Amino acid sequence: MRRRSLYKATALLALSVTVAGCAASGTSERRLVGVAMPTTSQERWIADGDNVSAQLDALGYDVDLEYAENDVPTQIAQIESMIDAGADALIIGSIDGVALKDVLAEAADQGIVLISYDRLIRESPDVDYYASFDNQRVGVQQGTILLQGLGVLDAAGRPTGATGPFAIELFGGSPDDNNATVFYTGAMSVLQPYLDSGVLVVPSGQTDFATIATQAWDAKTATARMQTLLPAYTGTGLRLDGVLAPNDGIAIAVIDAVKTIGYGTDEQPFPIVTGQDAELASAKSIKAGEQYSTIYKDTRQLAEVAVSMVRTLLDGAEPETNDTTSYDNGAKIVPSYLLAPQVVTIDNLQSVLVDGGYYTAEDLG
Ligand code: BGC
Repeated sequence: MRRRSLYKATALLALSVTVAGCAASGTSERRLVGVAMPTTSQERWIADGDNVSAQLDALGYDVDLEYAENDVPTQIAQIESMIDAGADALIIGSIDGVALKDVLAEAADQGIVLISYDRLIRESPDVDYYASFDNQRVGVQQGTILLQGLGVLDAAGRPTGATGPFAIELFGGSPDDNNATVFYTGAMSVLQPYLDSGVLVVPSGQTDFATIATQAWDAKTATARMQTLLPAYTGTGLRLDGVLAPNDGIAIAVIDAVKTIGYGTDEQPFPIVTGQDAELASAKSIKAGEQYSTIYKDTRQLAEVAVSMVRTLLDGAEPETNDTTSYDNGAKIVPSYLLAPQVVTIDNLQSVLVDGGYYTAEDLG
């Protein structure tokens, strides 16, 4: 008999004995949660997987945590085997937002609870809930801090009257990740007026998402693209003032590339480079005065949201949401709980990341 059927058979009994905090212990058999994460090539997803697993484990669930190393067929196969193993719930950080439709239909047929984790799964009516950060806000924060770093906006976000022109280049995330376009749209909502007025210029002329996107968020791809842009800034007198980098991996790639043409000295300081994820290498880079900013998204909190959604749904109740309009995945509007992202620069690195317990002072060196 499949594990799911066992759960159904014992559900009533379980409900009558369930007490808060023992969601999985009221049944005669532990319930299984499959956790499918996109890649271990980036620190944040390792932390996400660890946090989600640890929290599920503490609640008494069995956990199958798998990483697909950015390979879509691998992720589909992993989800299929979670379904075959009798998973009761799936928490999925997708690679390609539209590729999971069929396998999720299979999961839904089995009555499996499905949480879209951090990235919206698209074109599937079978996604129950979405746990993420306010991704539009992330983009707005990235655009705003870029303008603040350039001195176009002051610390309170008011225009300073600086006319520039400031030369910037734009990088986007992976086109198959729904978040990437949301970040881009958010950032452009604050940058576009300054591009229109000529305060900002993009010497490469590359501003549309398809051109600036970075497949699989791959740092090497970003380095290669930055290198193709650099000749405009060597021996021409043109200075690169800023780079919209959508995450920390791409920020570090950009910084490494501009170092090769002499940026990072008193005479030629680094451009203002944004980021996202508060990865350790970037936190250190900010401390060293290289990367300008990152966006802190506490993966411990995101894990809590996703785990609490699973527990609530398996207990037959409705999870808490705080956004039921923003995330239309093409098949339905997915009820969401969105956490607040926070901008980090050298000014609040200590108070947010160290005092907040994300890193120790020793971690930052
Ligand atoms: C996440 C970012 C991450 C990026 C690359 C996005 O979907 O929201 O935090 O940097 O994927 O993995």
